[in-house]
Amino acid sequence: MMVVPGSSNGALAYRVARSAGVRLAKVDYRRFPDGEKYVRILDDVKGEEVVLVQSAAFSPDEYLMEAFLAMDALRDLGAKGLTVVLSYFPYARQDERFKPGEAVSLATVSKLIKSAGADRLVTIDVHRHRVLDMRSVVGIPYVDSSAMPFLARYAIEYGLVEKERVVVIGPDAEAEQWAALAAREIGAEHSSLVKTRLGDRDVKVRINGNVEVRGRDVLLVDDIISTGGTIREAARLLMELGARKIVVGATHALLVEGALAKILEEGVEEVFSSDTIPNPTSRVSAAPAVVSGMRSLGLIG
Ligand code: R5P
Repeated sequence: MMVVPGSSNGALAYRVARSAGVRLAKVDYRRFPDGEKYVRILDDVKGEEVVLVQSAAFSPDEYLMEAFLAMDALRDLGAKGLTVVLSYFPYARQDERFKPGEAVSLATVSKLIKSAGADRLVTIDVHRHRVLDMRSVVGIPYVDSSAMPFLARYAIEYGLVEKERVVVIGPDAEAEQWAALAAREIGAEHSSLVKTRLGDRDVKVRINGNVEVRGRDVLLVDDIISTGGTIREAARLLMELGARKIVVGATHALLVEGALAKILEEGVEEVFSSDTIPNPTSRVSAAPAVVSGMRSLGLIG
């Protein structure tokens, strides 16, 4: 087996290869002068089981196109099997037609992945708020693995929160699933808030009635931090409710438009994230989550 790195996140590809105990292939990525992408697989992949690791954040079109070129080339060069790891799956938030005429980008990207030759797909904490059965959308063997247990363990092991006082909270109903995964890992309680989205950047958050945070350490978790609006509002509310301290753990920290400063201004002590998207708060590798996804698909023992 061989891990083929995309150009978006070579460090994660390297960590996945190391955790899985397999080779990392060499690939040449560059751009033609007109901006088109060039991909050349430098290793012999004939008869190999290959795992392409790509993270399509910030320049989703570029990284997806690059992945499609690599996938098609890998198949054409005789790879025996092709697993695609999209550690950050872009276009997932448009998972239904909210207004007449809209493209449902989650479905479109899924179809393209399948038709470019992928046999299997691994994602990490994919944003699937309204889609309950991602497998039927993806159409090939698929697993969504979670970085949440690793984030939660980090918060305890590095003393960011005290095990006896911690409560894990998701900022909205959808984040309850991630709060539950994180809480289970560290034997803590969990809950979630109620969020109303007012626009791309503005949200309103309220308590859902069963969260007791006074004097507690709060581990606030979410799949994505984009503008930071969600976490900022959640942190403000939790502070008002008497939290002793708040630390924030997210799988995908996009951190656009000054998100980090916005969150820290609310008194949050620490923001940490996984390396699905390399960023200044990446402290926890998602590689073990990727490897566990590969294992669930039967790729490794
Ligand atoms: C959406 O509901 C997600 O789970 C995140 O809460 C959201 O993407 C965060 O976006 P922002 O940081 O811009 O509030």
